[in-house]
Amino acid sequence: MLSEPCRSDAPCFALCKALTTDHMRFIKLPKRLKAIADLIDDGACVVDVGTDHGFLPVYLIQTCSVKRVFATDISAASLDKARRTAEESGITDAIIFSVAQGLDRIAPTDVDTIVIAGLGGETILDILKDAPWTMCRKIKLILQPQSKTDLLCRFLYDTGYKINATKSVMDRGKNYTIIYSTGAGSGNVDFL
Ligand SMILES: C[S@@+](CC[C@H](N)C(=O)[O-])C[C@H]1O[C@@H](n2cnc3c(N)ncnc32)[C@H](O)[C@@H]1O
Repeated sequence: MLSEPCRSDAPCFALCKALTTDHMRFIKLPKRLKAIADLIDDGACVVDVGTDHGFLPVYLIQTCSVKRVFATDISAASLDKARRTAEESGITDAIIFSVAQGLDRIAPTDVDTIVIAGLGGETILDILKDAPWTMCRKIKLILQPQSKTDLLCRFLYDTGYKINATKSVMDRGKNYTIIYSTGAGSGNVDFL
């Protein structure tokens, strides 16, 4: 059940800077999420789908690296966790929270970067299928499937998304694959 619409009066870079105070508790990301954050361009408008704890959106605000961040999750309880992370980190209004299935509450004009991390490959694939606007070349997709990576890559390739690069990250004894993709392309893969 969706409870809140996404707002478009989003925090801007200036607000993000104003929020950075001496008493802010800074988020230290695990290597997996840090590798994802490193792929996000400065000034990007980002949605973190399936945010759960909300570490990535909070980090992006604290590092003043983005223009706007949406944090969405299908679970209201998970989104509450993300809100708590934001509050405990000294950030209250900088992130736009929304309970949502996949990208249902996100308009194509809201974001230029989509992060879907820590979800199964099939779920990521379904989320993209339900939001064909993600095929737009301008949208940057940063995907980190927990399973079925081959299936997700096959889907991206067959549907015409371009897989620009993949990266392997070892974090706490586990290997993760991060896929950097954009809309319509030839499917060439570079390894970061
Ligand atoms: C394992 S957590 C990943 C948290 C974080 N993204 C990370 O990588 O550390 C997966 C989260 O995705 C959410 N989720 C699962 N399916 C979803 C969907 N279709 N749309 C939005 N969120 C979803 C779950 O509720 C859960 O909070």
